[in-house]
Amino acid sequence: MILKKKGIRNIILFLVGITVASFVWHCKNRTTESDYFTPKVLATHATGGNYVGSETCMECHADIYETHIGTAHYNTSAVASSESIKGSFDTDSNTIELQDARLTLHSEDGAFFQKSDFKYGTHGQAKEVTSKLDVVIGSGVKGQSYLSWEDDRLFQLQASYYTPIDNWVNAPGFPVTSFKRPITDACLKCHVTFAKNHDPVGNSNQFVKDQLFLGIDCERCHGPLEKHVLYQRGNPSVETPEHIIKIDSLSRQQRLDICAQCHSGLRNRQIKGNPFDFLPGEHLDEYSKNYNSGRPKEKLDVHGNQYGLLTSSQCFIKSPDMDCTTCHNPHKNQRGDMASFNKICMECHASITKGCTNENTTMTTGMNNDCIACHMPLSPSSTMQVQLNTDSLAEPVYIRTHLIDIYE
Ligand code: HEC
Ligand code: HEC
Ligand code: HEC
Ligand code: HEC
Ligand code: HEC
Ligand code: HEC
Ligand code: HEC
Repeated sequence: MILKKKGIRNIILFLVGITVASFVWHCKNRTTESDYFTPKVLATHATGGNYVGSETCMECHADIYETHIGTAHYNTSAVASSESIKGSFDTDSNTIELQDARLTLHSEDGAFFQKSDFKYGTHGQAKEVTSKLDVVIGSGVKGQSYLSWEDDRLFQLQASYYTPIDNWVNAPGFPVTSFKRPITDACLKCHVTFAKNHDPVGNSNQFVKDQLFLGIDCERCHGPLEKHVLYQRGNPSVETPEHIIKIDSLSRQQRLDICAQCHSGLRNRQIKGNPFDFLPGEHLDEYSKNYNSGRPKEKLDVHGNQYGLLTSSQCFIKSPDMDCTTCHNPHKNQRGDMASFNKICMECHASITKGCTNENTTMTTGMNNDCIACHMPLSPSSTMQVQLNTDSLAEPVYIRTHLIDIYE
């Protein structure tokens, strides 16, 4: 009897032991396991689709992930840090003199500030105002602007950074007497993956702070992908993709619309919803239009309207399959890789370029046969201008025109 009792006690102890052990094991591993099968949701689209971020793509699309994080898209907005801010805080190069104010940039305990000293207390403003740099806009190819939170309201600061002179400047188009201006969807729409505005059409500067998804990440061009990630993780032996738009099967206009969201001018006429409602595979014109549509092609500004310019070019009009990815790999930083761009021109023009490659050989070899230098020249933008100091006139920023043409 006693033996039996001891046996039962041992069995019970053994069972309790196993339960405790497996409980401990489970607790220890629970976070990693559930993180894997339910990735952290970064933001939620109006259709209910969840954004999960490029780190979740890494395990299955490592090659694309690696090159994507080096692109201007991925780096076009970020939390302010000594790494993301390109301007210098050294005391000999941290001020901007304006007609009626002086701006000073300084850092303190790992945070970054703009101090505005107004010579006159214009518009009843205080003589001295300090604002924090919270969000950086611009990868720094041409320049950067800085945004500041006040509770859940977002403002742009007056100080910007201009890459060609490696220094601070007055933000383009900024009124001289203001020190901050409200930022709505109309600004953020091209520089972030997703933002959730308090106003359904996106016209306020009040945002749900923890749903601001910085950088142009995979899901801006591919749509929110939680379902794709969950399905592929749950079915590792399946090699066909599910819950994802197949870009190959879209029409040319639908493919162009993915890029035209941000590269076809300001599209200020919002027809439906807000600027973050459009998803790849849909028709962009149902959501937004430009006020200036119908302008002659010479009047399209080179700033940010690569779509309008390219679609006015003979190359595009006479080639039924040409789209942005004919020349651009959306996952790679290709800036300055002229050899590979020129090779793409030659793929179509090997036989038809009599005008420059044959008769004008001296001219073209002088230019190292750089098709782009002559047919897509850098051109001044009329909307993107910077004033370098109080005495100088505003200088245009130069942008590669996408009106492929014959320029003299
Ligand atoms: C657990 C693995 C897995 C994860 C995680 C994953 N994918 Fe995929 N994905 C696949 C597989 C498998 C395919 C089909 C084979 C291929 O195209 O590589 C695919 C295909 C795709 C395609 C091509 C669709 C087509 O046919 O046109 C895109 C785009 C894509 N994934 C984007 C993403 C993005 C963005 C993420 C992260 C948010 C992601 N995937 C996360 C497994 C995964
Ligand atoms: C319609 C889309 C669009 C909107 C809206 C927009 N931008 Fe841009 N922005 C671009 C594009 C595209 C570029 C790249 C240069 C080009 O092609 O013109 C750019 C470039 C920039 C750059 C230089 C980036 C670099 O790394 O060189 C800064 C800074 C910038 N934008 C700030 C802003 C701010 C601030 C706002 C809002 C007040 C804004 N942008 C609104 C599309 C947009
Ligand atoms: C700027 C828009 C953009 C971004 C950002 C982007 N993609 Fe793509 N992606 C595209 C387009 C457009 C295609 C179709 C390419 C083509 O037809 O040449 C594509 C194709 C793909 C494909 C299928 C073809 C292939 O190359 O294997 C996969 C997989 C993919 N993307 C994954 C990703 C992942 C993962 C990320 C982020 C790490 C990402 N994409 C970011 C626009 C984008
Ligand atoms: C969400 C808005 C958005 C979408 C969608 C988008 N772009 Fe961009 N793109 C930008 C902005 C903003 C910049 C400037 C980034 C910077 O330097 O800060 C840019 C820069 C670029 C550049 C210059 C890169 C460099 O190294 O300077 C190229 C090329 C480009 N985009 C092509 C494309 C193509 C092709 C697509 C479609 C497959 C696309 N973009 C989709 C907003 C967008
Ligand atoms: C997908 C094929 C394709 C690619 C790629 C292409 N083109 Fe073209 N291009 C054409 C076609 C087709 C025409 C019209 C020819 C005609 O009308 O006979 C054209 C016309 C032109 C013209 C004459 C324009 C005019 O208005 O008379 C120039 C210049 C030109 N291309 C330069 C370039 C350059 C430079 C590149 C590379 C940046 C390039 N093309 C890339 C297909 C292409
Ligand atoms: C025929 C080839 C070709 C096509 C098609 C094309 N691009 Fe480009 N794009 C180029 C070249 C070449 C450059 C210059 C690259 C450089 O300077 O490193 C460029 C540069 C850019 C830049 C940077 C502009 C600047 O000066 O900072 C953007 C943005 C861009 N392209 C967007 C687009 C978009 C969006 C489309 C589709 C509407 C498109 N491109 C179609 C050849 C092309
Ligand atoms: C030094 C400047 C320069 C360079 C470099 C150059 N072109 Fe041209 N190209 C011109 C001029 C100027 C014309 C007009 C010639 C005329 O009408 O007499 C022209 C005409 C053309 C045409 C239309 C005439 C035709 O024969 O169809 C095409 C297409 C073209 N170029 C493509 C290219 C390509 C592709 C490259 C690179 C391999 C290139 N060009 C390099 C200046 C240049």
